[in-house]
Amino acid sequence: MANHKVVCWMCGAEVKDPYVNLCPKCGGLLTVKMDLSEVSEMNPEDLRKTQIGVWRYAPFMPVDPANKVSIQEGGTPLYKTEALGAEVGVPNAYVKFEGLNPTGSFKDRGMTIGVSHAKELGAKIVGCASTGNTSAALSAYASKAGMKCAVFLPSGKVAMGKLAQALFFGAKVLSGGGDFDDALTLARKMSEEKKLYLLNSINPYRPEGQKSVLFEIWDQLGFKMPDRVILPVGNAANIWAVYKACMELKEIGWIDKIPKLTGIQAAGASPVAKAFEEGAMDFVPEGNPETVATAIRIGNPVSGKKALKAIYDTKGYATTVTDEEIIKAQLLLGRKEGVCVEPASAASVAGLKKLREQGVIDKDETVACICTGNGLKDPDTILANVPKPIPCQNSVKDVERILSEN
Ligand code: F0G
Repeated sequence: MANHKVVCWMCGAEVKDPYVNLCPKCGGLLTVKMDLSEVSEMNPEDLRKTQIGVWRYAPFMPVDPANKVSIQEGGTPLYKTEALGAEVGVPNAYVKFEGLNPTGSFKDRGMTIGVSHAKELGAKIVGCASTGNTSAALSAYASKAGMKCAVFLPSGKVAMGKLAQALFFGAKVLSGGGDFDDALTLARKMSEEKKLYLLNSINPYRPEGQKSVLFEIWDQLGFKMPDRVILPVGNAANIWAVYKACMELKEIGWIDKIPKLTGIQAAGASPVAKAFEEGAMDFVPEGNPETVATAIRIGNPVSGKKALKAIYDTKGYATTVTDEEIIKAQLLLGRKEGVCVEPASAASVAGLKKLREQGVIDKDETVACICTGNGLKDPDTILANVPKPIPCQNSVKDVERILSEN
């Protein structure tokens, strides 16, 4: 574990109370400042002595591996998606399939670090607000750590698989009515009163674990950076995590090139993309967010300002995609690559297609799309957009007739 401290990303003030989620001096978001002097003496190859996954990058993590709470997260495949690339006109397109994490989303990366830190602190009760995946991940890691867990969900609009996971792992699943932003307000109040240890991504330890997705992409490309990384943006911490990973690799001189970080939002929940279009450094919260990509159905993203910094600093981009484009991209991935991702994850591929068409992405770029969650989380959306099973008679002739149709 590297030495580190929690500081305000705006004014730099150090914050020592783990139950404080914003800077007491200026109200800014918190971040972990890592001391990378030890890792800077290593070589990238040294990392490969351990199995690929979040903990391969322990020298970049602010938690002592002795307190590790792990279900073998990370180490997900990076597919060279040639058929998809040919279809969208970007031959060097890759998909990082985060749906193959233990609970089926990238949230496991943040939770292994977040819950390990909670264990270090001696926390007995952990909690989070969630559109679904965060709650599924936290519930699993809390079980593994033997902690009590409370998850606060929006009323309705949580994909069935995610809800089932949180209930299955034994969390107290609570819904006070309202949307994600209301659920987060309640979870934060609980944390401020020290009734639970909050593990939403406003907790700076969560993005630390999520940095590992970028470390892996770089590692899997032979310690080379892609030209661009595209990812869906909801509460906006993941793009910040990826940015922070880039900055840390640059700080120790392991990379020169920083990929252009490109955030994609659903048209009905797009405060960050709108701010980017206007060249603004901050976003205007949106009421009543709506999209088929329920994971990113968020109008007031906690880390929206950090996301904008990540995008501007890397000469990246942000845009919106419609629900129709999302569903088309989801099916395209399935039909061309045999990969089943949830709608929010397909937003990155929909963004790749749109930005190539608009000429923002050049055909020669190497692009990694992060597909954040597994399609099986949300079977209802899949079934609403595919044909029904075909009734047939129990005869070879009838099946032959059906197979001969287009
Ligand atoms: N993709 C999926 C599948 C998600 O579940 C989320 C966020 C995102 C992308 C966006 O990541 O919030 O860091 O910008 N899901 C959260 C949740 C909000 O509660 O599970 P972000």
